Amino acid sequence: MQNMIIAIDGPAGSGKSTIAKQLAKKLKIEYFDSGSVYRCLTLYGMNHFNQSCEGYESEIAQCFLKNPGLLEIRYVDHRQTLLLEGEDPSKRIRSRDVTRQVRFIASNPECRDVVNAKMRSLAKTHCFAIDGRDIGSVVFPETPYKIYLDADVEVRAKRRALEMGIELNSAEYKQLANEIQQRDQGDRNRTIAPLILAEGAKKIDTTKMTVDDVVKLLLDWIDSNPNN
Ligand code: DC
Repeated sequence: MQNMIIAIDGPAGSGKSTIAKQLAKKLKIEYFDSGSVYRCLTLYGMNHFNQSCEGYESEIAQCFLKNPGLLEIRYVDHRQTLLLEGEDPSKRIRSRDVTRQVRFIASNPECRDVVNAKMRSLAKTHCFAIDGRDIGSVVFPETPYKIYLDADVEVRAKRRALEMGIELNSAEYKQLANEIQQRDQGDRNRTIAPLILAEGAKKIDTTKMTVDDVVKLLLDWIDSNPNN
């Protein structure tokens, strides 16, 4: 039998990572941030090929295929720890530059295969709440726990701004809101593994909900699942 996988997809700022972390904590399973793995491949490409990853996607994927140890994913005390070439990349992968470049990596099939193989391999030994864009539709379509979170784009932009310490109504905020809209379009319209509502997924609009409300609703839903 497959380990428990809770697949959470949705656009940026819909609450995926917050909810996935809370569910993982309550259910005593691990949290897997699949976006951070795409970001690691992006950072590697920017460091070793060019400040822009565009045009180097296949070469970047080949590096990780030839040397899987380039990126290690470990769990210590229920915390996902990433080591990229032996170093902690967690701060650098959140930079605006990486955020702008990640779409090149995320729309390349070879890079997606590298990331998916890491997730599927770890899922053999761990139970996870995983957030991303294609977790329920492509990576773990067989899991009975598929969730799709959404929220109005302004609310999502505000949540991101709050996280990043950006003042609302500033020029930086307007730029952030624009970038979120562009990322939405890119994630939804790309030909490979676009962001879609997976078949059988539970869809929740978190626009007017608190984190606690969403977590409670989902814990009840998981609890009532006939596969338990
Ligand atoms: O969740 P995030 O913002 O850290 O993700 C970074 C990018 O990676 C995002 O623009 C879309 C992409 N991504 C993806 O295509 N598929 C996933 N499963 C996770 C992230």
